Amino acid sequence: MSKKSEYQPRTWMGWAVFGGTLVAVFALGLLYSSIMERRQEARIRPPLEEISKFESDSSAWANNWPREYDRFMMTADTTSETLFGGSAPRDYLEETPENVILFSGMAFAIDYWQARGHHYALEDVKTTPRLSDDTPATCWTCKSSDVPRVMAELGQQYVDNPEEASLQELALAGAADFYGHNFHDFDDEMHHTVGCLDCHEPDTMRLRISRPALIEAFEAQGKDIHDVTHQEMRSLVCAQCHVEYYFRGENDHLVLPWTHGTRPEEMEQHFDDYGFADWTHAISGAPMIKMQHPDYELYSTGIHAYRNVSCADCHMPYRTEGGEKFTDHYIQSPLENVANSCQVCHRWSEDDIRERVYAIQSNVKEGRTRAEEVLALAHFDAAACIEIGASDSELEPIQQLIRQAQLRWDYVAAAKGMGFHSPGESQRLLTAAVEMAGKARVEAAKVLARHGYTDDVVYPDFSTKERAQEINQRFVDGDPPSLLRDFTASASPPEGETAVQ
Ligand code: HEC
Ligand code: HEC
Ligand code: HEC
Ligand code: HEC
Repeated sequence: MSKKSEYQPRTWMGWAVFGGTLVAVFALGLLYSSIMERRQEARIRPPLEEISKFESDSSAWANNWPREYDRFMMTADTTSETLFGGSAPRDYLEETPENVILFSGMAFAIDYWQARGHHYALEDVKTTPRLSDDTPATCWTCKSSDVPRVMAELGQQYVDNPEEASLQELALAGAADFYGHNFHDFDDEMHHTVGCLDCHEPDTMRLRISRPALIEAFEAQGKDIHDVTHQEMRSLVCAQCHVEYYFRGENDHLVLPWTHGTRPEEMEQHFDDYGFADWTHAISGAPMIKMQHPDYELYSTGIHAYRNVSCADCHMPYRTEGGEKFTDHYIQSPLENVANSCQVCHRWSEDDIRERVYAIQSNVKEGRTRAEEVLALAHFDAAACIEIGASDSELEPIQQLIRQAQLRWDYVAAAKGMGFHSPGESQRLLTAAVEMAGKARVEAAKVLARHGYTDDVVYPDFSTKERAQEINQRFVDGDPPSLLRDFTASASPPEGETAVQ
């Protein structure tokens, strides 16, 4: 045999060994992930005591799942406080009076508190001063585990075989009927706050999507929510409620504005397609959008979503009691539980982790404050243009810029966690908001100059919640203070008001 022929089989064998190893590693990987999945399935055993598919009372699930239930009940705590979060009451309007100006003409200018735990969702919606006689039933949607039950009960009349239909099919069929009602039509139906039925199938305990709006939002994007992975479900159960939404049409159908995507520019396009505004701003007259806690959307652009870390990984970490590992249902600020929430992946000290989060949040807070200041002034600049008699075509570009700027600011501000879920995206949006609101102010100055006014606009004092609310009320009542110095007959600025530039 020549040297060459002796050598050849060995090369071939080397490759075979290498290939064989690859296959083996791959097979082991498959085995490992199937073990993991089966372990997961094993942990999620069906209930010992049967639970009806309409069981909205979480305490009825407690016999089967005492550990999950006990921890779930801990969301009643209202004492935890972190730099920007926690469950203790926090009056956003007191902390940031600019918010009163930014929401002038709508309910958030009157009452805007930090959210608290799931224990209070139902109580808080029943008692908020933002309720009125015209409030649609749609407002119940994210507040009670009775919602999927009532939707499903209504749905029975719209499907062929109600007995065989799943809870989800029934809820989808009944949703439109539900939204069409008045809020108070269901006062006697809503007894339980956010609970087990919202996230679990009672017969198998698998995670489930109980809210039709999220299913419909996937469909509107040409996607099927039933195709997602288990890890995605661990975020999507939260995305049933922790998302931006609005009420569309006469029947106040609950819609997530996701037809073009979940980033703010894409939502803006959706709202523009429908010519939609949540309200007309009482000071600037701009057609505004109120962002509602787009937690899932903002999170989706962050590093953790990119690395497949779910909401549940941080907010519902594993916990061990009496040698049993289970999912912690005490959903709260992860900074109250850094060891389980973060240190499973990050080998930094608790103090380092908390400091790092605070540093990220403080940067975002700084950007927010800048945007709030310039936006508040932009609303008054537009009002000054209205006062001087600017035409609609002069006002419209200014009002559009304000709408766009505030939508971007609010996407960050209304999302929980002070930007932690996606710091880069938060800063990008706040920069855009400052720039757009600045442009609106320049345009307004040009309009004023065109009408012969070149002096400073006289900004009312809105440095406290009370003062800001007085100003808001005057604009709402159609009796606004003059913003132009020495311009009309009775032109001296009202007392206590100063010129700021
Ligand atoms: C990498 C971990 C992580 C992930 C993933 C994560 N969060 Fe958070 N979340 C945090 C941290 C940290 C805070 C800030 C808490 C604070 O300021 O006290 C927070 C804050 C919050 C808050 C406000 C809590 C408070 O006490 O102020 C809510 C609500 C929230 N997250 C919901 C979600 C949702 C919904 C998802 C998934 C779409 C999600 N989070 C994903 C870590 C995470
Ligand atoms: C906001 C959504 C949500 C609510 C509400 C909720 N769960 Fe869960 N639950 C989860 C998530 C997420 C998991 C993790 C499941 C997984 O990864 O497969 C889980 C897991 C479980 C498991 C599997 C065992 C374990 O601990 O991992 C049980 C049992 C369970 N929950 C019971 C309950 C009970 C009982 C209630 C009501 C008291 C409840 N859950 C309320 C989201 C929720
Ligand atoms: C059925 C609707 C619903 C679902 C599902 C839901 N939440 Fe909530 N969540 C709420 C409501 C409503 C509140 C505010 C309650 C209040 O202030 O009265 C809230 C409050 C919270 C808070 C405390 C708020 C704060 O700012 O401190 C956290 C944290 C939170 N949710 C995280 C989650 C996570 C994580 C998930 C998924 C595992 C989830 N939620 C699923 C409706 C829901
Ligand atoms: C399941 C694993 C996992 C958990 C749980 C987790 N992280 Fe992370 N975190 C990651 C990964 C992966 C990255 C990306 C960095 C990398 O790949 O090295 C990351 C990045 C970060 C970064 C850097 C962000 C940036 O933009 O550069 C911070 C800060 C952070 N995590 C904080 C936290 C905090 C606080 C918690 C708990 C509330 C937490 N993480 C929980 C996996 C995790």
